[in-house]
Amino acid sequence: MGSMKKLVGGLLLLLASSVTISVLLAISSLTPNCTQVDFYKTQDRYSSWGSHRLAIIVPFRDRFDELLQFAPHIHDFLNKQKIKHTIYVINQVDKLRFNRASLINVGHILSRKDCDYIAMHDVDLLPLNPKLNYSYPENGPFHVASPEYHPKYHYSTFVGGILLLTKEQFELCNGLSNRYWGWGLEDDEFFARMKEAKFNISRPQNINSGIHNTFRHLHDRTVRRRDTARLFNQKEATRKRDRLTGLADVQYELVSTQHITIDQAPIILHNVKLICNYSLTPWCEHKSGNTKKTL
Ligand SMILES: *[C@@H]1O[C@H](CO)[C@@H](O)[C@H](O)[C@H]1NC(C)=O
Ligand SMILES: *[C@@H]1O[C@H](CO)[C@@H](O)[C@H](O)[C@H]1NC(C)=O
Ligand SMILES: *[C@@H]1O[C@H](CO)[C@@H](O)[C@H](O)[C@H]1NC(C)=O
Ligand SMILES: *[C@@H]1O[C@H](CO)[C@@H](O)[C@H](O)[C@H]1NC(C)=O
Repeated sequence: MGSMKKLVGGLLLLLASSVTISVLLAISSLTPNCTQVDFYKTQDRYSSWGSHRLAIIVPFRDRFDELLQFAPHIHDFLNKQKIKHTIYVINQVDKLRFNRASLINVGHILSRKDCDYIAMHDVDLLPLNPKLNYSYPENGPFHVASPEYHPKYHYSTFVGGILLLTKEQFELCNGLSNRYWGWGLEDDEFFARMKEAKFNISRPQNINSGIHNTFRHLHDRTVRRRDTARLFNQKEATRKRDRLTGLADVQYELVSTQHITIDQAPIILHNVKLICNYSLTPWCEHKSGNTKKTL
């Protein structure tokens, strides 16, 4: 009898909590729209901003303090250039190693119906010189974070940091390789893809600033150690042009989407679980017991 009571009590509790959850859900679906994706379209004063819309794609994990600076800065910077834009933060929420390239592939997929070009954008690199041009790159990919002006990377084939492509250009390359778990090299492989596609990659020129005042670089190496481990045959496998993986086969689960605003900057935050193909990339997991060190 006693256990029967417990059972009934437990069921009531369960019922009550599911009612609470559905009430909460109902309330959240009634709250006003703050996605602002369509906001600019309806505003007359934006009619002179042209027909293109830029998706700022920020591959992300555990960089909230940097995002707090990045989002208001880039929003303001692009508004001054009259660039219609939406900021997409692609937050990797699985337990695998960080995969910047796959997150950008996912960002492209999740933004392509609303935007016709993308910027792959590091969260820790803020453009300072207003002459850095974020317009629709109709002549070919535009590498904003040129090695001539980047605070840190100066090799001539560097295409990381900030890179603009039209949706079509990105698709022609099959996006980025999904093999790059951990830090580095995915952008060099993407350079090979762009070369092969015979794209005309251009960069800012004559903008009257130098490596110290064109960008602000937020990354603090002593606080945030990079995951540079090379596991299994990762080193050999990631030195080659990958003709197998890319945009077409990136595997992920969209866990949830949140709309947040930092100062005046609206952000679409997609929480994404990447799915690893273990036979292809066994190095996608942290070595056991090494998690803290490699994060
Ligand atoms: C939010 O926007 C969507 C799509 O534009 C629309 O269908 C929905 O009714 C809007 N919700 C509110 C509360 O305005
Ligand atoms: C920016 O780039 C676009 C497209 O390449 C070009 O049409 C435009 O003139 C450029 N704007 C400036 C200020 O250089
Ligand atoms: C390459 O891009 C530059 C800068 O946008 C442009 O001036 C040039 O005409 C392009 N060249 C070709 C071959 O498309
Ligand atoms: C993993 O990659 C291999 C080699 O490309 C492929 O044959 C296999 O279908 C992939 N597995 C999954 C689950 O996608």
